[in-house]
Amino acid sequence: MLDLAFAKAALPESGALVLPLAEEDLGGALMGEWDRLLGGSLSRGVAAAEFKGRKGQSTTLYAPGGGLSRLVLVGLGKREALDAAGAEAAGGNAAAALGKETVASVDARAIGGWAGAAADLALGATLRAWRFDRYRTTEKPEDKPRLTGIKVLCEDPQAAKAEWASRRAVAEGVFLARELVSEPANILNPPEFADRLRKLEKLGVEVEVFGQKDLEKLGFGSMLCVSQGSAQPPRMVVMRWNGTDSKKKDSKPVAFVGKGVTFDTGGISIKPAGGMEDMKWDMAGAGTVAGLMMALAGRKAKVDVVGLVGLVENMPSSTAVRPGDVVTSYSGQTIEVINTDAEGRLVLADVLSYCKKRFDPAFMVNLATLTGAIIVALGNEHAGLFSNDDGLAQRIQEAGKAVGELAWRMPLGEAYDRAIKSDIADMKNVGGGRAGGSITAAQFIQRFVDGCPWAHLDIAGVAWGSKDQPTVPKGATAWGVRLLDRLVAEHHEGRTPAPAEVPAAEPPAAVSGAGSESPAVLAEGGGASADASIAAPVAPAPAPAARPATRRPRR
Ligand code: BES
Ligand code: MN
Ligand code: ZN
Repeated sequence: MLDLAFAKAALPESGALVLPLAEEDLGGALMGEWDRLLGGSLSRGVAAAEFKGRKGQSTTLYAPGGGLSRLVLVGLGKREALDAAGAEAAGGNAAAALGKETVASVDARAIGGWAGAAADLALGATLRAWRFDRYRTTEKPEDKPRLTGIKVLCEDPQAAKAEWASRRAVAEGVFLARELVSEPANILNPPEFADRLRKLEKLGVEVEVFGQKDLEKLGFGSMLCVSQGSAQPPRMVVMRWNGTDSKKKDSKPVAFVGKGVTFDTGGISIKPAGGMEDMKWDMAGAGTVAGLMMALAGRKAKVDVVGLVGLVENMPSSTAVRPGDVVTSYSGQTIEVINTDAEGRLVLADVLSYCKKRFDPAFMVNLATLTGAIIVALGNEHAGLFSNDDGLAQRIQEAGKAVGELAWRMPLGEAYDRAIKSDIADMKNVGGGRAGGSITAAQFIQRFVDGCPWAHLDIAGVAWGSKDQPTVPKGATAWGVRLLDRLVAEHHEGRTPAPAEVPAAEPPAAVSGAGSESPAVLAEGGGASADASIAAPVAPAPAPAARPATRRPRR
């Protein structure tokens, strides 16, 4: 993780400087400050590069003077449209533009306007700068990314630092999820996955690991039929974070459940060879639940939460489950396994009914790379959202919009449920044909939630990205960690949101010279008054004040 520091604006003596600017800031007072410090090279560079401050635009000026190696201009777009997501994106774009720099200062004052602005920017930079390079041994040092730290220049470094703490915890959770998803399946098998989750104990998470024998004793016939063809034994991990001090019997936890198929060959209903390597991500639901638990524990969320993951490998072999086999689930319901590649729902069935029975949670949300059909329906932009509870579904969609992890509600219904009727068992594990494949999968899972308020997120299309996004590098996205952290923060930490106005921002202090402690007046002869007239930008969106540590303006 990048080293983050927050400080008052001052010209760095060396290294890089990043200057995010809105379209309206061009030629404005803030730009003027830096331009004077850099002897006019900023305004000349802006003109020569035709930098307009447009959203996503970034321009690098090399050796702009003042001892700097580079000056990166990052466009914020229109000021009135600037929000937390825009601040994060600016941080992400800045990190991406820093190339081979090791340290950089980022002037966040043009973002300003809500308490967490500088921290939002820091989060974006941190999320973008992550990279999985455990298995690169021959990469030349000069080719490796070198950025180790960022100093965010802002009006109130103390406040920004306080805001950063909870965001940092969320970033740690995102990184755990990305790392688990990125690991190849020969390394991250079910026992190894469970071992890694044990490390959450250090944060105060209670971790219980169930092995083959334990699961047999419990009667997990549905989940165990998936792993029976593999040399890798299965695991179920139950993680608990008790963040409330209430010992009240009636306080129900919230529950998150993840599909953790560490590799999905399809089993006897084997998948085609092309692209099968992608099936190492088939544990992304479990990775997200792990990352979420880390985020919640890391920021000491005031909530009681359980996270359960079902970990198996789906392999074809002489011991594998056959098409046509009938298994008995933990719930007692029997399942005719028509297609051994529809294994995720077999895993979730047992883990969900166990979760409901043992914890009687306020709700259960499960995440799973469940169906290729959801990619056909929604592409890579939205996860599929299925729920038996309109309020829960709406809260999930809203939390997703706030953090840029979008979910689209899909239907459930009796007619779809009829498609999984079996001739010889209580149900079969696939519908008739390919029609509505994501929905029949959801119907199957719903049969195991026993009336509990529940939502299923089919993340097959969003768990992995094929191109860089401002705050998510190509590869494992950790989709859902931030959404569910937000869901918990907004609705389950015992605080009522109160609308609040954005406090009128103070005019920013002038940039001080390199090494100078005091915010010195920069320009001679009238410069002071010019600087003092800098109007601090104000974000348009109201900043909810109820939870300053985690709330930020919505998109
Ligand atoms: N893990 C896959 C779903 C998947 C496919 C995730 C592509 C990511 C990308 C799941 O276990 C699966 O194989 N589903 C089958 C279901 C079918 C057999 C009814 C599918 O989608 O083809
Ligand atoms: Mn499968
Ligand atoms: Zn699968």
